[in-house]
Amino acid sequence: MSELAGKRVFVTGSGAGIGKAIAALFTERGARVVVSDLDTLAAKQAAGEIGAAGVANCDVTDETQVQAAIEQAVDLLGGLDVLVNNAGIEVSSPLLQQPTESFDRIFAVNVRGTFVTMKAATPHLVESKGNIVNIASIAGLGGSPLLGSYCATKAAVIQLTRVAAVEMRPTGVRVNAVCPGFADTAMVERLVPDFEAATQVPFGDLVAAKQGRLGTPQDIAEVAAFLASDRASWITGSHYVLDGGLTASLV
Ligand SMILES: NC(=O)c1ccc[n+]([C@@H]2O[C@H](COP(=O)([O-])OP(=O)(O)OC[C@H]3O[C@@H](n4cnc5c(N)ncnc54)[C@H](O)[C@@H]3O)[C@@H](O)[C@H]2O)c1
Repeated sequence: MSELAGKRVFVTGSGAGIGKAIAALFTERGARVVVSDLDTLAAKQAAGEIGAAGVANCDVTDETQVQAAIEQAVDLLGGLDVLVNNAGIEVSSPLLQQPTESFDRIFAVNVRGTFVTMKAATPHLVESKGNIVNIASIAGLGGSPLLGSYCATKAAVIQLTRVAAVEMRPTGVRVNAVCPGFADTAMVERLVPDFEAATQVPFGDLVAAKQGRLGTPQDIAEVAAFLASDRASWITGSHYVLDGGLTASLV
């Protein structure tokens, strides 16, 4: 399938996990992808494995680095059709016991990082009538113990997506979000011990009961690929939930 043939793509946080799966699937579907991560070694390895078009690293909390990485990607690719804002971090803490510095940090990565990256890519996306896919979360749609600040950042990402979509509609640039449930990555592995301690339920049982199974990074990449493709040409300002029915269920 070559639904992304020739698309020029920049993916933040794509050295590992969901971002890497997105970079891999987009490449497989014909896109030319520039991998970007805070972890420069992981980015280099991922790009090599995937056969990506190149690497342009940045820490999304640093606006100067973000602007430089986007310009580097545009030079490499000859323009930009798709930005995937995937870089994100989690914090596990009861909300009102969370140190303020850590609250500021998660907003800097998940919200401000998404904002500055969208801003830096916009002139190029307007030129190509391209699109943005923001990786939010079901945590942006409901509350979860220990994930208070994370939930707030992901709700903010959904709102940034809506407003950017509406404002950019006249330019032809589409902006959408993806809201995954729990997926099999290092982020979730890091959360499991605290979750099990708080709920007294084995995480596997919780996942089986609420989601059927753990999501895979490829599940999320599939939805991102659809939204980035021309098949989604009438879709903007939306957020796509993929969670095995978790948020649909009251019991
Ligand atoms: N795993 C899940 O269950 C899940 C569910 C819903 C949403 N998400 C979201 O998906 C995205 C990817 O999550 P993941 O599970 O693959 O996480 P991960 O921790 O496995 O990978 C995240 C990647 O982002 C990079 N990164 C972190 N901070 C960065 C920064 N400041 N600048 C640039 N890169 C940075 C890391 O180096 C890493 O390569 C995140 O936005 C996350 O919130 C994950």
